[in-house]
Amino acid sequence: MSGELSPIDKAKFVAAKRAADYVEDGMRVGLGTGSTAAWLVRCLGEQVREGGLQFKGVPTSTRTADLAREVGIEVISLDEARWLDLTIDGADEFDGDLNLIKGGGGALLQEKIVATASDQMVVIADIGKEVEHLGAFPLPIEVIPFGWQTTQALVEETLVSMDVLGRQSSLRMNGERPFMTDEGNYILDLHLQRIGNPRQLSLVINQMPGVVENGLFIDICDAVVIGYGDGRVEVRDINEGTVEQDRLDFLESDNLFSDLAD
Ligand code: 5RP
Repeated sequence: MSGELSPIDKAKFVAAKRAADYVEDGMRVGLGTGSTAAWLVRCLGEQVREGGLQFKGVPTSTRTADLAREVGIEVISLDEARWLDLTIDGADEFDGDLNLIKGGGGALLQEKIVATASDQMVVIADIGKEVEHLGAFPLPIEVIPFGWQTTQALVEETLVSMDVLGRQSSLRMNGERPFMTDEGNYILDLHLQRIGNPRQLSLVINQMPGVVENGLFIDICDAVVIGYGDGRVEVRDINEGTVEQDRLDFLESDNLFSDLAD
């Protein structure tokens, strides 16, 4: 029930519900990963089951694929879809240019491939994700397990000449073991505090052997749907230069609330 949701969960839910309006019959849609994206998948599943919405979803993780199938969405691979009309995904941070840090859930590689293969990327986020400068959230980078400590040392050394405040990094863990991505890689989280030049940093990091991809999404996002804990939503479209405000009501009977997202 909605009464059990925290303000942040409500904000994530209303952002996801509003963003579901972007999905139209016949579309091929990239489905993001994370708790906000899980709300989206549930909202879309409900529209498929009860509203007859017809679209094909390309999930960005096994978690999202499992949930999408569970709620009744037709799942296809990116290779089957080739190109997508739209991707909707969460983010860990977004700035005024709609540049992002992603990968808090460890799915940044598939997320970036899928978003880049889409006509449009829409980010869904609670207002707490908005920042003036990216970097307070640790920047995830996906590295191959072979020689990962050497890669880590190289990354830290390179950060000395970058416009960042911190240069500590840590291997992401899952209990006693390194966290492993869907591709069998590791994640290094870079504690940079503030990233002065995200575009340059992204290019430099990706040139290092051992690095597969980084969580900076530069010039990929087209619009952000921002949710607030009181049900307000704001849609900022960077291409149109528009800002729209709306309010969504929570329905006590909404069966989406009977099984809370992760
Ligand atoms: C997963 C991601 C997520 O989109 C990001 O971590 C936001 O997650 P949440 O919606 O749970 O706050 O990038 O790799």
